[in-house]
Amino acid sequence: MSERLFIFDTTLRDGEQVPGCQLNTIEKIEVARALEALGVDVIEAGFPVSSPGDFNSVREISKAVSAPTICALTRAVERDIDVAADALALAKHKRIHTGIGVSPEHIYSKLKSTPDAIVERAVAAVKYAKKYVEDVEFYAEDAGRADEAFLARVVEAVIKAGATVVNIPDTTGYCLPEQYGAKIKYLMEHVDGVHKAILSTHCHNDLGMATANTLSGVINGARQVEVTINGIGERAGNTSLEEVVMALRCHKHLGIDTGINSKGLTSVSRLVSSLMNMPVQANKAIVGRNAFAHSSGIHQDGVLKDRGNYEIIDPKDVGLDESVIALTARSGRAALHHRLDLLGIKLEQHELDEVYEKFLVLADKKKDVRDDDLLYLVGDTTGEKVQ
Ligand code: KIV
Ligand code: ZN
Repeated sequence: MSERLFIFDTTLRDGEQVPGCQLNTIEKIEVARALEALGVDVIEAGFPVSSPGDFNSVREISKAVSAPTICALTRAVERDIDVAADALALAKHKRIHTGIGVSPEHIYSKLKSTPDAIVERAVAAVKYAKKYVEDVEFYAEDAGRADEAFLARVVEAVIKAGATVVNIPDTTGYCLPEQYGAKIKYLMEHVDGVHKAILSTHCHNDLGMATANTLSGVINGARQVEVTINGIGERAGNTSLEEVVMALRCHKHLGIDTGINSKGLTSVSRLVSSLMNMPVQANKAIVGRNAFAHSSGIHQDGVLKDRGNYEIIDPKDVGLDESVIALTARSGRAALHHRLDLLGIKLEQHELDEVYEKFLVLADKKKDVRDDDLLYLVGDTTGEKVQ
């Protein structure tokens, strides 16, 4: 029996706060509907106190989307919580996400406070949010750099105050996977009442560890992951939803299931990229242009014999028709033959050899040899006009 992992998507909050990625309310609703169709459990729709526009977006998303829980972010400040509750009023399932910094950097330098005062404010914020909603998530900001005994004290106190989910953010993307996993394990083992709440991961990608840290958190007991489409988010971004979902599908032995309809991943990725005007890097795992493209002759030959030789994911599982055999100067005859076959062109072996020689000369000059280039080379070789 697999255990369920809850997917908390923060594309519209942590992702959308990136400069240049701002969306208007209509666009946010379009993304929220796509996330609902994808099967996410929670949509963090915004930070309502931050601007009237964000307030309005949270309100409109609350009306437009009904299956996922709609979540609104606040600081541990009563007015933030009042405004968030108002923005969420029409949501079918609602959650307030409140919290405060818990690392020495945040306690002393950012908040000019003390550990005792932080615990007091954390508990007060959760209790205050509970007046409005049953489902209250607490974030222990910069937990990645926090002292673990203090972190455990905060987590225990907020669970006692009624938090249903406790988020352990690696806000600065500082941890290594074994450190982040150990933090979650420590909390699972040392916090009284930890099973009354769900621990959540929220890992930033400053060292390129976000997905690895998130998975390490899950392996050690976290049962919610905070993620974004295409991994967008502050600085180097957040954990990418598509990477976590597909990693767990590839490693079924972990016994963790998400409710995500993975066939929608490519289209949601493209929607978010185009609305936010944020290109996805070509080699991005799962959704990058080259994630299912084979370009070297050795790989192409292997894939054409059996896709499993070089593919761990069936492209159809992420909503693509098939993988791509890219024709470059590193391609072999097998790839050329395959592409000509797809174009409906049958050649004798000596013609194929001749076209291949001409193809290599052209491929050395061009980055990518396209179908019209091939049609020209075939015509040039056979003397027939091919189209
Ligand atoms: O990275 C972080 O700590 C956050 C919190 C506000 C949840 O985004
Ligand atoms: Zn964050």
